[in-house]
Amino acid sequence: MRDLVIVGAGGFARETAAAATAAGWRVLGFLDDDPALRGTTRSGLPILGPVSETGDEAAVVVCVGNPRNYTARQRIVTRLGLPAERYATIVHPAAVVGSGCVVGPGSVLLAGTVLTADVTVGSHVAVMPQAVLTHDDRVGDYATVASGVRLGGGAVLEEGAYVGAGALVREGVTVGAWSLVGMGSVVLSDVPPGEVWVGGPARFLRSTKEETA
Ligand SMILES: CC(C)(COP(=O)(O)OP(=O)(O)OC[C@H]1O[C@@H](n2cnc3c(N)ncnc32)[C@H](O)[C@@H]1OP(=O)(O)O)[C@@H](O)C(=O)NCCC(=O)NCCS
Repeated sequence: MRDLVIVGAGGFARETAAAATAAGWRVLGFLDDDPALRGTTRSGLPILGPVSETGDEAAVVVCVGNPRNYTARQRIVTRLGLPAERYATIVHPAAVVGSGCVVGPGSVLLAGTVLTADVTVGSHVAVMPQAVLTHDDRVGDYATVASGVRLGGGAVLEEGAYVGAGALVREGVTVGAWSLVGMGSVVLSDVPPGEVWVGGPARFLRSTKEETA
C-alpha cells in the first residue's frame, strides 16, 4: 500500500480521497494554505499543513480548481516543481479503462468513468463520475471533464480545457486550450482557445478572462 497526500481540501480533493482509498492507497491527509484549516479534518482525514509540505516520500495528487478558477491546478503544479514520478495516477476501481488507453501522472478518474479504447489522458487531468471518453480521444494536461460528459470518437480537449457537466462533444471536434464548455452543451464544431461556449448547439458566450485571470 502506497502513501498519498492530496493537495487541496475542497470537494474534488475529498472525492479523490474516497477514490484513492477505494483503489488501495493509504491517504495521509490534505495540504492546504488556509491557516484556518490547520488542525481540522475533512472526510475524517487531517489537514497536514500548507501546500509546500509534500514531504519526500508519499505520492502526491493536486486536486484544486472549480469552474470559476480552473487554472489553479497548473499554478500549484508549477509552484511545487516536483518530478513527474512523485505524482500518483488515481483510478477508482469502478472506472473502466479499455485497451490502448493511457492516463498520465497526477490525473484522477472518479467512479463510473469509461475510457473505451485508445484514449490518451495527459497529466493532472480531472475526470468526474460517469464521464465517457470514447475511442481515440485525446485529453491534454490540466483539462477537466465534469460528471456525465460524453466525448465522441477522436475528440480533442487541449491543455486546460474545461468541459462542464453533461456536455456532449461531437466526434472529431476540438475544444481549445483553457476554453470552457458550459454544462449541458452540445458541441458540434471546434471551440477556439480561451473562450466560453454554451448551449445546443454550443455558441460563443464570452472569453475566459474571468477564470484565467
Ligand atoms: C458556462 C458558465 C461558466 C457561464 O457562467 P456565467 O458566465 O456566470 O454566465 P451566466 O450564468 O451569467 O449566464 C450568461 C448567459 O449564458 C446562459 N448560460 C449559462 N450557462 C449556460 C449553459 N450551460 N447552457 C446554456 N446557456 C447557458 C445564461 O442563460 C445566460 O443567458 P442570457 O444572457 O440569455 O440570460 C456556467 O453556466 C457553466 O455552465 N459552468 C459549468 C458548471 C459545471 O459544469 N459544473 C460542474 C462541476 S462542479
